[in-house]
Amino acid sequence: MMTEPLLDSADFRQVCGHFPTGVTAVTAVTDEGGYAALTVNSFTSVSLEPAKVLFCLATASSSFAVLKNARRIAIHILAQDQEDIARRCATSGLTGADKLEGVAWTAGPDGVPLIPGTSAILTGTTDELITSGDHVIILIDVDHVHLKPSPVPALSFYRGRFSSPTAVAAD
Ligand SMILES: Cc1cc2nc3c(=O)[nH]c(=O)nc-3n(C[C@H](O)[C@H](O)[C@H](O)COP(=O)(O)O)c2cc1C
Repeated sequence: MMTEPLLDSADFRQVCGHFPTGVTAVTAVTDEGGYAALTVNSFTSVSLEPAKVLFCLATASSSFAVLKNARRIAIHILAQDQEDIARRCATSGLTGADKLEGVAWTAGPDGVPLIPGTSAILTGTTDELITSGDHVIILIDVDHVHLKPSPVPALSFYRGRFSSPTAVAAD
């Protein structure tokens, strides 16, 4: 089978979208009390000892200003009944505080917003920021975790769409 030369970024985006991912909501707090909240599917674990994870952030996003100075970052692995949170945290034009309004979050270590009802949460501090193209890779040293297994399957994202219980049942 032949591969074709890459034509444009729309092709690139479409091909990358064929890789199914989980969905996380990332929150952060700065020393000045600034908040970020955004939906992220570029999350991955990096190292077990010491515990490190990463995600990639668009430097053009308004969340970048908060995340580059974050005192602490929290990553919430979302379940299928939390698609509303994923949609809200992916809304451009809202501040982090706006996105978190109505979510009934609680303050975790260092005041980082923790979203209730999330079965798996990791929080930590920034290890390194590596700029690459129009994104920055944010490496995080994880020092707190929360796990409360839920019967609801993880939310996933594939070819531009969220999984839904109906879609899963139909597959
Ligand atoms: C399923 C999904 C996954 C996303 N993953 C990422 C990601 O990994 N990195 C990123 O920078 N933006 C990602 N986004 C986009 C941000 O969530 C969105 O642009 C967010 O509103 C941040 O923009 P803002 O900081 O300007 O508000 C994703 C959006 C969706 C719907």
